[in-house]
Amino acid sequence: MHLTCIVGARPNFPKMAPIIEAARRAGLEATLVHTGQHYDAALSDSFFTELDLPRPDVHLGVGSGSHAVQTAKVMEAFDAVLEGRHTDMVVVVGDVNSTLACALVAAKRRVPVAHVEAGLRSFDRTMPEEINRIVTDQLADLLFTTERTAAEHLVREGVSEQRIHFVGNVMIDTLLKHRATARKRGVLARLGLQPRSFALVTIHRPSNVDTPSSAGKTAAAIRVLGERLPVVVPLHPRTRSRFREFGLLDDLIAAGISVLEPQSYFDFLALMDNAALVLTDSGGIQEETTALGVACMTFRENTERPITITEGTNQLVGTDPAVVRAALAETLERPKSGHVPELWDGNAGERIIAVIARQGRGGLADASGSYGSHLSGAAATCQT
Ligand code: UD1
Repeated sequence: MHLTCIVGARPNFPKMAPIIEAARRAGLEATLVHTGQHYDAALSDSFFTELDLPRPDVHLGVGSGSHAVQTAKVMEAFDAVLEGRHTDMVVVVGDVNSTLACALVAAKRRVPVAHVEAGLRSFDRTMPEEINRIVTDQLADLLFTTERTAAEHLVREGVSEQRIHFVGNVMIDTLLKHRATARKRGVLARLGLQPRSFALVTIHRPSNVDTPSSAGKTAAAIRVLGERLPVVVPLHPRTRSRFREFGLLDDLIAAGISVLEPQSYFDFLALMDNAALVLTDSGGIQEETTALGVACMTFRENTERPITITEGTNQLVGTDPAVVRAALAETLERPKSGHVPELWDGNAGERIIAVIARQGRGGLADASGSYGSHLSGAAATCQT
């Protein structure tokens, strides 16, 4: 069985690494395609070395652009890849533009699609990722979920239950695998930080940085943290360029905030693992802090990952700096405790590949694309 696995942007790499590892262990062939959505060394290259990801077999080199342009460029380039080689299944992860673009190309070519991290919903269609999630899930033949509420969303949207497999969280496979190594890297000493004494911030969503008003609130919230403890901010290129454009960057630095380049996977993991608290608008970091037991304040009005709130260490604080100030005081006094959600145990990649391999043995989609009906007979044994 031959899988074509897609990565494009930073959050894809830690999700795909355990899937490829498990596929190879199970004797499945895996071609890795990098769309090139993220191309900076800090957002891409270092992850391949640290996560033992094989070098991509194919690099599409699409780069930045508007959502439509970026998605279209990935589609055109990936279509040519599928034209030239046999594949039994395309595996996409997460919710970035590359995820949607490659799922769409595969579906049109009647190549079965597996979507890892299916069914998450913020119910906020102003988020580009929400559109990507909804459409990718409609196109997917196999939908792998990280938490049980995801299946409810999918079924409500008309996805057959037989296609849905609750397998846990692949990103946590990667985190557990590398946590000990990350701790030994000495990033805290390098930055002059003491464990549990600093705040770590990552904010990059367009809604939080793209206008002077939203970027101003984001910078103000970061300064609020700085009133109480040292703050480390590895800046995403989007945030850096907006902060610079709106004249916010120098003020942050003048306020004593440590503004850094994006960190490698290991160093960022070590920073998260040792932070007193994290302020973020990232999806993945809400989950990683829950797995690490570190308090997380999510700088958004909603989350597609509610289990990090109901069971984990996450809380939604919104984007008002005054509310952040109150939440910070509360968190420093009584950090939210939680527990690690069901099946976030380091074995999600294995479960995914076990399901895929069983489907492969049962025969994949026929030319009419009626993949769901192929699965129905095997469904009872495939539910994980
Ligand atoms: C993308 C994902 C988002 C994910 C984030 C993680 C979508 C819709 N969004 O957002 O879900 O949380 O990645 O980082 O797919 N840029 C660089 N170097 C790079 C890549 C981008 O400088 O290597 C700059 C460019 O100016 C670009 C901007 O960052 O225009 C945004 O990049 P893009 O990939 O479009 O979206 P992200 O904001 O990174």
